[in-house]
Amino acid sequence: MNNLQHTSEGKLLIYGATGYTGTLIVKEAARRGLDFEIAGRNEEKLAALAAELSVPYHVFSIDDAEGWKRSLEGKTALLNIAGPFSETAEQAMEASIKFKVHYFDITAEVDIYRLAESKDAAAKAAGIMLLSGAGLFATYDPLVLHTANRVKNPVKMRVAFKYSGGFTPGSVASSANIIGAGLLVRKNGLIKKLDEAPSAVFDLGDGPEDFSLMPLGGVVLSYKSTGIPDIEEYFSMAVPAATGGNATVKFEEGQPQAGAGSARSKILVEITDEDGTIVRSMADTQDGYMPTVTSAVEIVSRALSGAYQPGFQSPASAYGAELLKSLLDVRITDF
Ligand SMILES: NC(=O)c1ccc[n+]([C@@H]2O[C@H](COP(=O)([O-])OP(=O)(O)OC[C@H]3O[C@@H](n4cnc5c(N)ncnc54)[C@H](OP(=O)(O)O)[C@@H]3O)[C@@H](O)[C@H]2O)c1
Repeated sequence: MNNLQHTSEGKLLIYGATGYTGTLIVKEAARRGLDFEIAGRNEEKLAALAAELSVPYHVFSIDDAEGWKRSLEGKTALLNIAGPFSETAEQAMEASIKFKVHYFDITAEVDIYRLAESKDAAAKAAGIMLLSGAGLFATYDPLVLHTANRVKNPVKMRVAFKYSGGFTPGSVASSANIIGAGLLVRKNGLIKKLDEAPSAVFDLGDGPEDFSLMPLGGVVLSYKSTGIPDIEEYFSMAVPAATGGNATVKFEEGQPQAGAGSARSKILVEITDEDGTIVRSMADTQDGYMPTVTSAVEIVSRALSGAYQPGFQSPASAYGAELLKSLLDVRITDF
């Protein structure tokens, strides 16, 4: 991207560091040599993790203004992993704006993307980037841009996401917010709530399968990166056989079973051009949470090394379709 700002190497605060995904992310951040400190509300868990990684830690609740002030001093960016984000994003985004640090999270809650969008002007005034959705959307959003770039004038997009893996308690709580947001689509450039859920059939390489409409967030984030006026998103889930069909998996700390299976999560993007041409691109990734872990650290490390765009951004509006090339073990097929 041409108009990315560039500054020197910076320092990161990771809030919500001791959850399942947080623990994996801090270990990946340490492996990649990022300069970071950790934070959260549980002193015992934070002290243990900080000792293991030899990093400073900060204990404070999400509403504690003094805690934010102390912990964000000297930082370049905040990565918020404390979910459900309906309970944490407003406070963390406001702290980022106030103390002028870039904001990142890994939410999949569409209302949080709308919240970030609503703070665009404040973020620009503070000279910071607000990028909500550095997890799944690190693959999803650049894939949409990649596919849209294959036609001249994209007017419609449909996405089918087949998730393979289980859910942590934090994700189960968050999924209630995703479903609670309603059946959102974008029509003629405006977000609209449907009364009834349409289903659709997609073939992601395993034969035709049924998917249900679900507001994954592209209605906000991929609209930001592409401006495509008509957007529909669909979801299906393959739970690991080991769980006996129960989507809530008991994860052992540090054991990314959610990403260790042979199954792959898949995202299919279908773009319709104004002239009726339809093109499709598909990404498949490791199952479970590891793609979120490695993607979030990749995106944050870019901002720490000075590559950012002020204001509300999506992964692809900030870093383009090329972001896909930096993600671990993501395979793209065009057809
Ligand atoms: N979109 C994606 O790609 C993706 C992938 C993975 C995860 N996620 C999301 O990331 C979030 C975290 O997932 P997880 O797997 O780490 O869940 P988890 O294991 O249940 O951990 C949740 C973490 O958030 C903290 N937390 C929750 N509410 C808080 C609050 N009000 N104030 C301060 N801290 C709070 C918890 O702190 P305590 O330990 O003190 O309770 C814990 O550290 C979930 O919302 C999940 O949906 C998204």
